[in-house]
Amino acid sequence: MADIGLIGLGVMGSSLALNMAEKGYTVAVFNRTLSKVDAFVADAGSLADRLVPTRDLATLVAAVDPPRPVVLMVQAGAAVDEQAEALFPFLASGDMLIDAGNANFRDTRRRAESFSERGIDFVGIGVSGGEEGARHGPSIMAGGNEASWRRIGPILSAIAAKFEGEPCAARVGPDGAGHFVKTMHNGIESADMQMCAETYGIMRDGLELSAAEMAAVFEKWDRGRLKSYLIEISADVLAAVDPDSGKPMVEVILDRAGQKGTGRWAAIEAQEMAVPATVIEAAVAARVQSSAKEARIADEARFGKAARRLAPADRDAFLDRLESALLAGKIAAYAQGFAAMEAASERWDWQTPLGTVAKIWRAGCIIRSAFLDDIAHAYGAGVGGANLMTVAPFDAHLKETHEALRSIVSDAVLAGIPVPALSAALAYFEMARTARSTADLIQGQRDFFGAHGFERTDRPGDGFHGPW
Ligand code: 6PG
Repeated sequence: MADIGLIGLGVMGSSLALNMAEKGYTVAVFNRTLSKVDAFVADAGSLADRLVPTRDLATLVAAVDPPRPVVLMVQAGAAVDEQAEALFPFLASGDMLIDAGNANFRDTRRRAESFSERGIDFVGIGVSGGEEGARHGPSIMAGGNEASWRRIGPILSAIAAKFEGEPCAARVGPDGAGHFVKTMHNGIESADMQMCAETYGIMRDGLELSAAEMAAVFEKWDRGRLKSYLIEISADVLAAVDPDSGKPMVEVILDRAGQKGTGRWAAIEAQEMAVPATVIEAAVAARVQSSAKEARIADEARFGKAARRLAPADRDAFLDRLESALLAGKIAAYAQGFAAMEAASERWDWQTPLGTVAKIWRAGCIIRSAFLDDIAHAYGAGVGGANLMTVAPFDAHLKETHEALRSIVSDAVLAGIPVPALSAALAYFEMARTARSTADLIQGQRDFFGAHGFERTDRPGDGFHGPW
């Protein structure tokens, strides 16, 4: 009998099925377009022995050892509901439906509730690492109840990436917690990517470095404190040459960013909980603005092109400052993402272990980095509840790097180079360390036009009014 079933043999589904087969599990597979099932098994080589091809849902379910875990790897949205409902008549009490796509956690909560009333555990899991990760070791953020984790945890841990031997797979809370954590992963991913892109813009337009020179800078950074997958691939992308034109690949890629929407969900959910996630918001908005290419061309003609050139006296020193600025920006962005996860955990009573989240993000996922190992240690040491910016070693890193962030942002702003995410990170830091904010005026205005009342600095209580 098969250990697990899997529906949806697209790129991610096929990769996950092969990964499970390679780890010794027998996987019953099904795909709506039946020809894909045959082609998949035919291409599986020696792993075909551990794949059970099925041609309808009844056969798929019957092939799996109960209580049955069945993974859905179909397009997020309505397709998940359709597939889950189509499967339901064949399932028995105690079986598990596992949605491994990038679902909205609110849908996962709804599905978990609806299926639990019918005796089925609906488990939402976030899977990060793209095709390569799914095939050879993703990072897996699981929701669902503890009993489901006991059943599927060993399989998910076996296929997950390993960081110093530890599997990057964990249960991060019930119902929608896994998909929420994946959403915040993607929000942080967008912020991190945008800040990398902004440092690229400063080097490209401000310093007029070539793609190869910029690749060398990212490569150098990848040997230091910024060591991470995103820095590594930034170097790779910048070093690549287009085989058709012979030009640097980056020069022939159209500067219009796509987005499937998980970064946006992260910003929306943070807003919903009144957690500032301004770096993530800036990154999402920057992608949207990038997509309006024609309008940007027209506006450059309308308003004139900014000078953009920076002429630092000491280029190497400037690049060191840029590296420090990126580190400071990262600390602010991750602080926002972790604060949103902490708020969600409280709001939905998930008990999400933030140290564990950082641990399972150390390998396999897109934001994997040395930095996350530091976060894992920080939260592992029991400092959940405090903003990451104030926790060792990040407080010390920020003390050391915030001047660099400020000077880089101001250089870029004066030259007309857009740095929305780095600016948002700087503003977040400045707001955080401003003991006397300007909200006294806001409160005065609110009281003036709406009699909303305010607190006073010189006596306790609230509901005071001004002499207007
Ligand atoms: C991952 C990625 C993956 C995917 C996202 C990003 O963790 O493996 O985040 O989930 O690449 O869909 O999508 P967009 O860049 O299109 O928003």
